[in-house]
Amino acid sequence: MTAIRILKNGGQTCCFDPSLAPDFTPDYFSVDYWQHRHAITGQSHGRGITWFIQHQTAHWVLRHYWRGGLIGRYVQDQFCFTRLNLTRSFAEFNLLHKLVEDELPVPRPVAARVVRQGLFYKADILIERIPGAEDLVQLLKRDALPRDTWQQIGQVLAQFHQAGVYHSDLNAHNILRDTSGKIWVIDFDKGNIRRPGRWQAKNLARLYRSLQKESALHPLFHWQSDDWQNLLVAYQAYR
Ligand SMILES: Nc1ncnc2c1ncn2[C@@H]1O[C@H](COP(=O)(O)OP(=O)(O)O)[C@@H](O)[C@H]1O
Ligand SMILES: [Mg+2]
Repeated sequence: MTAIRILKNGGQTCCFDPSLAPDFTPDYFSVDYWQHRHAITGQSHGRGITWFIQHQTAHWVLRHYWRGGLIGRYVQDQFCFTRLNLTRSFAEFNLLHKLVEDELPVPRPVAARVVRQGLFYKADILIERIPGAEDLVQLLKRDALPRDTWQQIGQVLAQFHQAGVYHSDLNAHNILRDTSGKIWVIDFDKGNIRRPGRWQAKNLARLYRSLQKESALHPLFHWQSDDWQNLLVAYQAYR
């Protein structure tokens, strides 16, 4: 893997992978920049907007970090700065970079940015887009998934847990399947590496609740208790 480069300019610090973005500029974090180039190919609305971008032959996703909860109503996208590697974007970039090195199925991080303003900062991240991938909610609204897909998901989650990877928001939108049938996990904001513990079962319980919630939300949602059993059995059998 190529070395990550750092670019500093006033209050703004970026890191990027030159093998993925050889001509990197901080403009890459500007939605206007891509809009002017007609490079935006789509978007997904969650807490904020995840922008899908095509740059030459590369496909990326661009995300700004927003605050949630009560505080989020007042300071929408400002976080307290302590250290660069503890910022939301650099932490997610570094974690993804390590997980790719360990051959876990996560997208490669392209670049991250922190913009400091006094005691606070704002943050953005650019990640490779998994081509043709759809998340579990999109998939289950259309059709049921075969047993071996649920088993694969169980194995992938076990692989993450055995590597000690904590995901702070393991929900059905953060598990993707690509056109070849491979399972991917995304959205590692606030994730980290931990010793084995109760967080592992809690992670799974969170995914279960998310599937239940989506199932109640969509009149057609092809998910049954057998699917969850298949996932669990494969999770437990994984070494
Ligand atoms: N790297 C990626 N490759 C393909 N699709 C992605 C990727 N990242 C995000 N998406 C799609 O965009 C949606 C929202 O992205 P996500 O990063 O999870 O942001 P948030 O949860 O804050 O809305 C995902 O559920 C997924 O459908
Ligand atoms: Mg998400």
